[in-house]
Amino acid sequence: MADQLISTADHDTLPGNYVRPEAQRPRLADVLSDASIPVVDLANPDRAKLVSQVGAACRSHGFFQVLNHGVPVELTLSVLAVAHDFFRLPVEEKAKLYSDDPAKKIRLSTSFNVRKETVHNWRDYLRLHCYPLHRYLPDWPSNPPSFREIISTYCKEVRELGFRLYGAISESLGLEQDYIKKVLGEQEQHMAVNFYPKCPEPELTFGLPAHTDPNALTILLMDQQVAGLQVLKEGRWIAVNPQPNALVINIGDQLQALSNGRYKSVWHRAVVNSDKARMSVASFLCPCNDVLIGPAQKLITDGSPAVYRNYTYDEYYKKFWSRNLDQEHCLELFR
Ligand code: SIN
Ligand code: FE2
Repeated sequence: MADQLISTADHDTLPGNYVRPEAQRPRLADVLSDASIPVVDLANPDRAKLVSQVGAACRSHGFFQVLNHGVPVELTLSVLAVAHDFFRLPVEEKAKLYSDDPAKKIRLSTSFNVRKETVHNWRDYLRLHCYPLHRYLPDWPSNPPSFREIISTYCKEVRELGFRLYGAISESLGLEQDYIKKVLGEQEQHMAVNFYPKCPEPELTFGLPAHTDPNALTILLMDQQVAGLQVLKEGRWIAVNPQPNALVINIGDQLQALSNGRYKSVWHRAVVNSDKARMSVASFLCPCNDVLIGPAQKLITDGSPAVYRNYTYDEYYKKFWSRNLDQEHCLELFR
């Protein structure tokens, strides 16, 4: 029901079904706010250096920010603006797109998986399948009028960036530059446009609780003003502060499997605040359902046996969605 959307109502207190039990709250005072994730300049002409920086970031944090990433900065700002405008539409307009069926390829929803959860998350989101564009575009929101054009242009740019990163990540693992792209094949691309309204009691809830991403690679466009993303590093949460013109990249579960565990799909979460709404736009590159995933042969050695078995992405994705977001790492079930 669209009236479950948080963005449609004003809240003075946090409704009870968003309140986490004491032991599961974000403990915002314990978050490290001055440590950050690595930053990689993708315009670095020294390829060996760039590749080694990408490899180091994938090993140490599983997360990094990229600068000079090739996606026009004005376009990223237009994406954030039109996404904001979308969430400001009247409830009747948004209601047309509302669904809590995770199988739907275009839907507006709230929290994470309202059908399964006992405690909800302080997030509304629009989820879109984005590749091939011609298949999905006609069903995307037609309001705001510039939505389709801006978001589809961004999707194409982000896909190209993702493939460039696959090249650097493959090389950093000592694999052929086209290894990941070849093995994962023609990939799907999904997008989550996240809107985290101002929250009356941010200490008691999450925008998104700790999770790892089930896909291969995520490219995240963050709100330029409002922080909220946090990444787990050695048992501490670190805040990822917005850096102008950067995009945030993270390794998903499939690249952890393919790298035979050398690269980590790291726990991350989104917290909310009482001052300002926050937006983020996550683009996910994902293998098609029938693609067989497993550690690259070259990364299986006597000293480093295969950590994961082979499986299809379909099997993985179904398992991921059958669980709660903050349970054990889903890859643990594929050893
Ligand atoms: C996500 O993990 O998908 C979103 C994180 C964020 O909003 O920064
Ligand atoms: Fe995520």
